[in-house]
Amino acid sequence: MRVILVGFGVVGRSFAELVESEARKLERDYGLRPRIVAAVDHLGAAVAEDGLDVKTVLESKKKSGTMEGLGQQYSAGKSALDVIKEVECEVVVESTPTELTSGEPGLGHVRAALKEGRHVICTNKGPLAIAMPALMELANHNKVLLKFSGTVGGGTPVLDFAKKCLEGSKIRSISGILNGTSNFILSKMTSEGVTMQAALAEAQRLGYAEADPTYDIGGFDTACKLVITSNYVLGTSLSIKDVRIKGITEISKKDIDEAKSKGSVIKLIGRVEKNASVQPQEIPATHPLNVSGTFNAISFDTYPAGEITLVGKGAGGMETASSVLRDLIEIRRAFAR
Ligand code: HSE
Repeated sequence: MRVILVGFGVVGRSFAELVESEARKLERDYGLRPRIVAAVDHLGAAVAEDGLDVKTVLESKKKSGTMEGLGQQYSAGKSALDVIKEVECEVVVESTPTELTSGEPGLGHVRAALKEGRHVICTNKGPLAIAMPALMELANHNKVLLKFSGTVGGGTPVLDFAKKCLEGSKIRSISGILNGTSNFILSKMTSEGVTMQAALAEAQRLGYAEADPTYDIGGFDTACKLVITSNYVLGTSLSIKDVRIKGITEISKKDIDEAKSKGSVIKLIGRVEKNASVQPQEIPATHPLNVSGTFNAISFDTYPAGEITLVGKGAGGMETASSVLRDLIEIRRAFAR
């Protein structure tokens, strides 16, 4: 299966590494032989119709920050849109940074790929938070799949868990901790007494934060994930504009200590019932949503099974790459059918 990687940051590179290290298992267990025929970052594109040498691409990127180590296979300044139009492939993986005003450049990439009849795996939340219903329609119209498991929960299969494993149940509400970075920050502030700035700097260094970290601490990333989950699982047609959003920027050490003295913790919680909202909330330390570090936790209030909570790592390159791989396997299955 020929794959184009659009965006070659933490997620794109982790996915390339994962595909390389799991090659034998993928072929043996799923009959899947992913071949990365192009990788594009904001500086240019590396293209090889018979497959790029992943190790060389990763080494070049690590050494110089570009893919120019690929020699003739590399074209400086070549755009993702040109590559999507010119290079034959079955799947485009879109993992450029999230942008929430226009959704660009991701939205344009996803649209172009779907129009070209390529399946798309998108880990970029912007296009979906802004235009999910229209993109789903475009994918259906072009008879291709648009998959986005990695947009919610990192490597934790939140979306398919709710969609597939809760079939037959009524989901009355969804609430959760959906942003690894702000949960990491709140946890560090609670357990180690560090400042918000210091904890954020560490989350950035570890590759958890968004390119624009105000998306994390301002609650916008949680809002994106809430929109995607609600639309996919509950069949709503929300966009990020429909969500009431308050982030953690005003949370002080005093607020955290006060909560602690009552046996509670402050968490950034996204919730959808009749309306969708994101806000910091005090919950008892014994609450199932009280997870620490970059963990995400999401509770589905279901009928008749009651409250069901899923917990797992919500951010990180390899974690998100594992979701991309699950999507790829599902596309392969649908192809085979
Ligand atoms: N910045 C995001 C987070 C990355 O911290 O959860 C995963 O979507």
